[in-house]
Amino acid sequence: MMSWTPGSWRDFPIKQQPTYQDQETLKKVETELSSYPPLIFAGEARNLKRKLAAAGRGEAFLLQGGDCAESFADFNAETIKNLFKLMLQMNMVLMYSTGKPVVKVGRIAGQFAKPRSSDFEEFDGVKLPSYRGDIINGIEFTKEARIPNPHNMIRAYNQSAATLNLVRAFSRGGLADLNKVHQWNLDFIKDNPLGKRYDELSDKIDHAMKFMAACGLTSETMPQLHQTTLYTSHEALLLNYEEALTRLDTETNEWYDCSAHMLWIGDRTRDLNEAHIEYFRGIKNPIGCKVGPSMGEDELIDLIEALNPENEEGRLNLIVRMGAEKIAEFFPPLLKKVRDAGKNVVWTIDPMHGNVEKSSTGFKTRDFDNILSEVKQFFSIHKEMGTVAAGIHLEMTGNDVTECTGSTSCAITAEGLASRYHTQCDPRLNASQALELAFMLSDTISGADQ
Ligand code: PEP
Ligand code: CO
Repeated sequence: MMSWTPGSWRDFPIKQQPTYQDQETLKKVETELSSYPPLIFAGEARNLKRKLAAAGRGEAFLLQGGDCAESFADFNAETIKNLFKLMLQMNMVLMYSTGKPVVKVGRIAGQFAKPRSSDFEEFDGVKLPSYRGDIINGIEFTKEARIPNPHNMIRAYNQSAATLNLVRAFSRGGLADLNKVHQWNLDFIKDNPLGKRYDELSDKIDHAMKFMAACGLTSETMPQLHQTTLYTSHEALLLNYEEALTRLDTETNEWYDCSAHMLWIGDRTRDLNEAHIEYFRGIKNPIGCKVGPSMGEDELIDLIEALNPENEEGRLNLIVRMGAEKIAEFFPPLLKKVRDAGKNVVWTIDPMHGNVEKSSTGFKTRDFDNILSEVKQFFSIHKEMGTVAAGIHLEMTGNDVTECTGSTSCAITAEGLASRYHTQCDPRLNASQALELAFMLSDTISGADQ
């Protein structure tokens, strides 16, 4: 194996990258970023790896979710708090039904770079380079905005630091206290049947808390009841940024990407002989890799061996994203191959990226029924195969948007999408749809929907 350095990816072919016009500014920004403090501590990444190992064995459940793309414009405490509360609510629902700890990982504090299906966008006869996420260029449809700007990396770093700061404050400061489960219910869900179902669950937890308090176990005496951990993650697409935040951990003398606890490789940049695989093989964080319908069986084994040569538990999360129509055909052979090869991986399902469609009203959307169907198929395939469905990976927001159609709780129609369609990139489940999905999934897991 060739020797690895944080910059050895530069000798490999690479996809989905911006072409920076001003190389001198790019170099300056990279140097500046390399001198900034890391956003996470390597010990935290190791803790997450241990928890993911438990999820891979079926002893915990991984809930990963957040924006498709974070944005500089929509950067405020309310949005972060709403996502945090939504994660806590889903956590309660899933913990209650699975009886297992839920490992919470946000697509947050760094999820800024986007792979695109086309290098150009055309609108009213004008053709411009595609928007690639705020860390690279601007979303406005103008020539100037679409020029990649290296300074955006500094802004993304600063926004990630501030976001993570608030997430850590919410996690430790009392918002996550189990005596506050009722308060996590978001205003716009409170009055619908889903909000009521959540309230019923909260009542049960309240009873349990009172019983425990009577036994002398309170949030003052037990930090577990008062605090939580929300880990951060993003697609490590823009390797200039990731390299600048790659640091040598002095405790272990190993390299960690300190831009987030967990990083993943997208479905479009996972070629075995290309730059992203080269970069990822050298960092010790827990990592993910998307698995779309074009993945070959032998290709997957080669990928696993490149990324996790020691077959370490919790190191590699394979995130399946085939689509409701394809998963039954394409996933079982891959799962069987990996199972029979004795590879330790953490299988989760991203039911978003294989289910994109265009609504009759012209919006990029996803339908709740297809999302739910792919999740359910993923769980039943694992059941048949005797393997572990370890969690879900969602694009969602705690805000009351209208980007995905369907669901019982809010029944968004193609016409209704226009009302609050705010996403920077792909359509997200709103808080109500995400919570509904958690309840449906918990019914599936507990067998209540049989
Ligand atoms: C994503 O998760 O935002 C994404 C682009 O996914 P994929 O690589 O699976 O298309
Ligand atoms: Co997306």
